[in-house]
Amino acid sequence: MTETGKNSASPLCEAQEVSKLFSARSGLRAGSGRARYVRAVDRASIAIGHGEAVGLVGESGCGKSTLGRLLIRLETPTAGEILFDGKNITHLKGGALRRKRREMQMIFQDPASSLNPRFSVYSTLAEAIRAHSKRLSTRLLNAHIAALLNMVGLPLSALDRHPREFSGGERQRIAIARALAVEPRFIVADEPVTSLDLTSQAQITSLLTNLQRELNVAILVITHNMELVHHICRRVAVMYLGRIVETAPTETLFEKPAHPYTRALLASTLSQNPDDRSRARVLPGEPPSPLDPPKGCHFHPRCPHAQMQCKLIVPQARECSPDHFTMCHFDFDKEIISAARAAPTAPENGDSQV
Ligand SMILES: Nc1ncnc2c1ncn2[C@@H]1O[C@H](COP(=O)(O)OP(=O)(O)O)[C@@H](O)[C@H]1O
Ligand code: SF4
Ligand SMILES: [Mg+2]
Repeated sequence: MTETGKNSASPLCEAQEVSKLFSARSGLRAGSGRARYVRAVDRASIAIGHGEAVGLVGESGCGKSTLGRLLIRLETPTAGEILFDGKNITHLKGGALRRKRREMQMIFQDPASSLNPRFSVYSTLAEAIRAHSKRLSTRLLNAHIAALLNMVGLPLSALDRHPREFSGGERQRIAIARALAVEPRFIVADEPVTSLDLTSQAQITSLLTNLQRELNVAILVITHNMELVHHICRRVAVMYLGRIVETAPTETLFEKPAHPYTRALLASTLSQNPDDRSRARVLPGEPPSPLDPPKGCHFHPRCPHAQMQCKLIVPQARECSPDHFTMCHFDFDKEIISAARAAPTAPENGDSQV
């Protein structure tokens, strides 16, 4: 697959056919088993344009966080390439990687564990700024910190307090301020609202949306939360067992999902709405293990449309409408359209003739 996940605009951050294998030992005694590999990411390609917000969705364990970490080089790919602003950063190390990190930041799911409990808000932000601007005067440092607090909607009185003294939503505001402290060009937000209560989820969603637009920062939002995707993201990528199986502009993906997995995922997500319980369990079974992924299309054991070729051949990505890519052997819309054309038109109101 080469095209799924890409968009036509010049990308800021890009993964090209990246794979990531983690070793997992099997066997009864530690050290005695043969090495096996978890294929966390499998030849995935994705591109995030300058100032663009892209969503990355999929069931738990499908490789979203690993792909996010690969993009900002917290992990090194086993194969494939990572490009940032057109430069290959796949094997960047040491000081060169640290300098590049200034341009790429991460916001984690759980702000309680991502913030140092011993650091006050002031120290947290000062440390982040000083890590990249060592010579900044105290006056400019303090002005920068005050501006950051204002940006994320926290009062100056927060500066001397520690993470435990804040609510979950406020802690996530501190984590966002810390990510913005180095004025990054690209942020990976990994489940940024998942651990929060409903009110805080809405507030942090709106804060991230406003900040992304005001600062024109590129962001990859990894989430289960379709509301968040709808609010922030211009495009969405859908991941299944290490592969990106569909990407599309957000409205297109919600209105005309092409891949059977995306359709099932959207239907089962919507079924969490209590008014729509009839759509529950649209996605049967568990995803197969990334230790032993199925041959051919990874989705075939769960796909209601699977044919023999799906079990043997990996589908290639194809563009089914502008900027909309799917990785499935079949074009169901065409089938549905041709079936509809072939079917006799039902007369309206039971009239048999005009
Ligand atoms: N450091 C690691 N070592 C071994 N396996 C890992 C590691 N990180 C992730 N995995 C495995 O890789 C797969 C994808 O994980 P992850 O990227 O966290 O998925 P997601 O974010 O979609 O839930 C899972 O099977 C997970 O157990
Ligand atoms: S390639 Fe086959 S198994 Fe895979 S999603 Fe398409 S129809 Fe289903
Ligand atoms: Mg994850």
